[in-house]
Amino acid sequence: MRNAPKKPAGSLSAHFSQRGRMKTLAAAKSDSRVDDAEKFLLPTYKRQPFVLERGRGCYVYDAAGKKYLDFLGGIAVNALGHGHPRIVKVIRREAARAIHFSNLYHNAYQGPLARKLAECSGLDRVFFCNSGTEAIDGAMKLARLCARRPQDAAGQFPGKHRFLALENSFHGRTYGAISVTATEKYRLPFAPGVPGVEFVRFNDVADLESKFDDSVCGILLETVQGEGGIYPVSELFWNRARALATQHAALMIADEIQCGLGRTGRYFAYQRFASKPDIAVIAKPLAAGLPLGAILATNKVASYISPGLHGTTFGGGPLVCATALECLRIIEDEKLLENVRSRGEELKAGLQGLAAKFDFIREVRAEGLMLGVHLSVEGAPFVAEAAKRGLLINCTHDHILRLLPPLVVTRAQIRGFLKLFSAVLGAVSEKSAAAETSTPVTSKKYATAR
Ligand SMILES: Cc1ncc(COP(=O)(O)O)c(C=O)c1O
Repeated sequence: MRNAPKKPAGSLSAHFSQRGRMKTLAAAKSDSRVDDAEKFLLPTYKRQPFVLERGRGCYVYDAAGKKYLDFLGGIAVNALGHGHPRIVKVIRREAARAIHFSNLYHNAYQGPLARKLAECSGLDRVFFCNSGTEAIDGAMKLARLCARRPQDAAGQFPGKHRFLALENSFHGRTYGAISVTATEKYRLPFAPGVPGVEFVRFNDVADLESKFDDSVCGILLETVQGEGGIYPVSELFWNRARALATQHAALMIADEIQCGLGRTGRYFAYQRFASKPDIAVIAKPLAAGLPLGAILATNKVASYISPGLHGTTFGGGPLVCATALECLRIIEDEKLLENVRSRGEELKAGLQGLAAKFDFIREVRAEGLMLGVHLSVEGAPFVAEAAKRGLLINCTHDHILRLLPPLVVTRAQIRGFLKLFSAVLGAVSEKSAAAETSTPVTSKKYATAR
């Protein structure tokens, strides 16, 4: 790598001093909570070596008191940052009133929240669940249900059962969702998945047309692929998928779990297109950090559902729904959609400036506050260096640094991020240049990642 910034990277990190780093590492090493996690948790995640204890706005703090600028936002969950006073107030109030009754009774917030979501989305009916993957599985069940013909006896394999999904997609970890997730490392270890799934090349209309026929019951697509590395579906592809779904009486299911609810500067990312899906699924930021997912559907889809066909114990309880209603009110009151658009433009412009300076940045992709910095080298060292310097970011598909800052992020925080991120890019490239001189083997490995 070349083009390290002239200024030594370390000079920008006074706030995140060497002493702070040492303290954090020492604290993590001697922290029995980390030991417990290592010993007793299923090893499903590679966690950073520190314990996060609290957050305020766009910052979080670890057990050693070190401050981090949070540009991952709990992977697009903490849209309002941490500890928003209105959210804290609602949670306190509702926790004291009632956390859960059951879906056998009405509660004070589920109906009003459903109405609000219907108004924002242009869809008609809502089912609440607990996570994104659960919403996807529910949507797939609805697609199969709507596709059943009178001649398809219960328990028989119906003629119209196929799902189309897109290459490079990510829809979640339960069986339905993993079956329509293209990334093989997630899907193949659990094969065989749900039968009848086929993947369409991303934004390839000809491939879509060749695979769509009357045997398709649903097409699933992330309006902007998130885990895949921030790739928006093209208008041409969206329109063709919409037309083919209508023509073949299949459901068009928009996965807005990561890109929905304001992240792209609109309530729903599909609102940049003229047409709507039959179903939209949301989750992550909906209840400002509490677990809540939802399936939003047209009245036509809803007409196939009757009591007992689908359900959930926890979904849509009073505490989470009251919190989600307040979250949506805050998005309105604080004009966060406008903030996303303005801050998103500033961030994109700043990153493009860095791309001109660091030749290992291949591309910057941005949709509001959903950004991908596509590198020609591995991203993991940048994530680790960022954490050392007090910045939380993430890497997806090995080479794409993903940024999902809270929607409340300020102009000053964007400027602070760009300084810090520039220092991270410089420091890693300097280290790798040093390694290239001393150990040619490492340099070769780095070079082949391009
Ligand atoms: C686009 C998309 N769909 C589905 C999911 C699964 O959501 P959850 O982790 O809440 O089950 C995710 C999670 O990252 C996602 O980004």
